[in-house]
Amino acid sequence: MQLTDSLGRNINYLRLSVTDRCNMRCFYCMPKEGIVKKGHDAVLSFEELQLIAETAVELGIEKIRITGGEPLVRSGIVGFLAKLSAIPGLKHLALTTNGLQLADMAADLYKAGLQRLNVSLDSLNAATFAEITRGGDLVKVLAGLDAAEKAGFPPPKINVVIMRGINDAEILSFAEMTRLRGNSIRFIEYMPVVKEDGWQKYGISGEEILERIAASYPLEPVDKGLYAGPSRDFRIPGAMGSIGIITAISGHFCSDCNRIRVTSTGQAKGCLFSDEKTDLLPCLRPPNPEKLAGLLRGIVSGKQERHGISCDSYQHKNFTMAQVGG
Ligand code: 5AD
Ligand code: SF4
Repeated sequence: MQLTDSLGRNINYLRLSVTDRCNMRCFYCMPKEGIVKKGHDAVLSFEELQLIAETAVELGIEKIRITGGEPLVRSGIVGFLAKLSAIPGLKHLALTTNGLQLADMAADLYKAGLQRLNVSLDSLNAATFAEITRGGDLVKVLAGLDAAEKAGFPPPKINVVIMRGINDAEILSFAEMTRLRGNSIRFIEYMPVVKEDGWQKYGISGEEILERIAASYPLEPVDKGLYAGPSRDFRIPGAMGSIGIITAISGHFCSDCNRIRVTSTGQAKGCLFSDEKTDLLPCLRPPNPEKLAGLLRGIVSGKQERHGISCDSYQHKNFTMAQVGG
């Protein structure tokens, strides 16, 4: 079965957040003091999350990415992933992590049937990394990358949020990782999620990122895979990893959007930047798979054409990335 929205986009990808808690405090994602902790009951149980996943796969979702907050801080996550990986019809199971606990958990995650890891890593310099994450330990994340490969994962894809004056001097170092270590790198344009006046100063467009790389290396375009998200991908000839840009602000990737999102409290969203969300709780407590399927279909058919953010105008939305899962 295929899920298609009203604009003909094939929706095959669900991002499912399992927690909005995190063991880091990246300044572009969370306020310094963190976010208000949700009561135990507000967060969906693993059984409820599993029902959402199974229902989505029955409707035509083929790829699920587990997100957070930081998904590895939720206890029981490995067992949950093992259950998800057994869902018939689910072709891809991936997880996005900040990598802090990967060194300890990579082997168990692999055994649970997880297929791919994305690691968010914004600097290869320990001091800059600690500044961006407000105290994160780069050494642990790098050990996590090694452990993932040792456990059997393909080299994790690395998400880098590039911010002018903060980590833009490292664009080339990250690009070189695609040759030297074989990781694919995705440069993400900074999005003004946490309210900060003058956010435009961090802005650096995907085009500029590519130009800076192209000044040192030739770049060839790479074809998009079936589940490829909004990134435009390139490769330094001969490199194992690719280089992608996600032009959340400067570009118009909405026409290729293939995804829906569900937060850890059961709010489903068709667009990351939309205020519209659908509460799935009434179909989960008590569980009603048919009604749930109807609601998920509604999210898909109601997906808006595009988000309204540009460099000139943006009303800060009332969410943090840790709540929606990126
Ligand atoms: N702008 C751009 N990317 C962000 N992410 C989190 N917050 C922001 C933001 N304000 C990224 C994380 C992670 C992904 C899920 O979303 O770095 O890699
Ligand atoms: Fe945590 Fe990821 Fe947000 Fe950083 S970006 S605070 S690692 S959820």
